[in-house]
Amino acid sequence: MTNLSAMAVSAALEAYDFSPFNVMVDVGGGHGFAICSILEKYPQMQGVLFDLEDIVPGADERIRKLGLQERCRTAFGDFFQAVPEGGDVYFRSTSCMTGLTSRLHVFCGIAAAHWIASAMEAGPVKLCF
Ligand SMILES: C[S@@+](CC[C@H](N)C(=O)[O-])C[C@H]1O[C@@H](n2cnc3c(N)ncnc32)[C@H](O)[C@@H]1O
Repeated sequence: MTNLSAMAVSAALEAYDFSPFNVMVDVGGGHGFAICSILEKYPQMQGVLFDLEDIVPGADERIRKLGLQERCRTAFGDFFQAVPEGGDVYFRSTSCMTGLTSRLHVFCGIAAAHWIASAMEAGPVKLCF
């Protein structure tokens, strides 16, 4: 998963300029590879990593190790119910070993929760700016 994540994140970082955004929410962010890579590239940006309760401690560890704890917090819950408010960009990267697919969704704006839930299975890459 990490290699596929790394490929997806590296492609996103090369292809997209996230500098207009202030707060990124990484939905289903796992142990934080994506959000940490993005925050390292954009020092003005704050981040929220959102995942299931038993996953976020692993993310907290990575965030602390990289010294990003002042700019990145974690939150847990079920993304089908709600995602954290206050982001101006919502990021969802799904790397799936079994299917050998890597999907990347980037959503900007309000009402992202709905979009994320419905677009999850929509296609290999979906970018909405
Ligand atoms: C395939 S992993 C992707 C992790 C990371 N974004 C990446 O690309 O490496 C999917 C992530 O979504 C999280 N997840 C799955 N269902 C979820 C749900 N209903 N609510 C919140 N997170 C969920 C999992 O815990 C997991 O960390």
